[in-house]
Amino acid sequence: MNLAIEAKNLTKNFGNFQAVKGITFQIKRGETFALLGENGAGKSTIMRMVACRSPLTDGELYVEGFDVKYQDREIRSIIGVVPQENNLDPDLNVRENLIVYSRYFRIPLKIALERSDELLDFIKLSEKANAKVDHLSGGMKRRLIIARALLHQPQILLLDEPTTGLDPNVRQEIWEKLEELRRTENLTIVLSTHYMDEAEKLSQQILLLSHGKIIAEGAPRHIIEDKVKKFALEIREAESLVPQIKDSKIFFQKRGTSHLYFADSVEELTSLINFYGTRQVILRPSNLEDVFLQLVDK
Ligand SMILES: Nc1ncnc2c1ncn2[C@@H]1O[C@H](COP(=O)(O)OP(=O)(O)O)[C@@H](O)[C@H]1O
Ligand SMILES: [Mg+2]
Repeated sequence: MNLAIEAKNLTKNFGNFQAVKGITFQIKRGETFALLGENGAGKSTIMRMVACRSPLTDGELYVEGFDVKYQDREIRSIIGVVPQENNLDPDLNVRENLIVYSRYFRIPLKIALERSDELLDFIKLSEKANAKVDHLSGGMKRRLIIARALLHQPQILLLDEPTTGLDPNVRQEIWEKLEELRRTENLTIVLSTHYMDEAEKLSQQILLLSHGKIIAEGAPRHIIEDKVKKFALEIREAESLVPQIKDSKIFFQKRGTSHLYFADSVEELTSLINFYGTRQVILRPSNLEDVFLQLVDK
């Protein structure tokens, strides 16, 4: 089979606490796969086990057919890792950060220099090649770490929260770069994120995690169709009003001060709008956030 990663009953305990609770999943070659879930869901723990940086408590995990328990050297040579925390060397300039890293992979200097220049061009940082890392913006640092992870031409790129803490326009730039990589390099991209829009936009497959367990999986559209009704009606600042729950075909949910109704047809929802008078009303297709908030609500 064309599997990049295969996990069976993957488990991680920290003392008495179980951070990853025996999960099974597969990632196909060449796809972008998202681990999506709230803070503490277990995303980074899974990423670290895949990257051979944290041993399994139980279960099995294979990366391109290599067993993480015994073949970490083989695995490290074919994965590129973008960790959650930026870990560039502040004493080195942009290009030097790439060159130094290339030594871990025993890339000859001439090739490392060529490859660094190509990658700096790809991430649009050529003009900053001699700048100190401290002088880069958050988005530039993130792009540089992505370039660093690509130096040794890995088959799998692991990105732990690639855009957390960045401005929306900067997130967009990184998304475009990742999309370009997927299209042109035939890389398998595995990213973790707590942003539903990021997972929905970038990935073909999603593993929706909560408290170390899988709560949904599949293509974003499939998950939405499978787990929630098709349309959502959202009414803001409706706290003081009594929800209109009469029809069993409609699912109601309160979120903060908002009322939300879900149904499979728009008509079932429009009949509710009048009741809310002048309040702000949004009628939209259901999204992954709805899936998450309905599943973890139960
Ligand atoms: N080294 C550790 N020791 C103890 N608990 C940990 C350790 N690393 C992570 N955890 C706990 O495991 C859970 C999952 O953490 P993590 O994988 O970092 O979540 P995520 O990346 O989804 O935010 C959290 O409750 C976290 O506090
Ligand atoms: Mg994390």
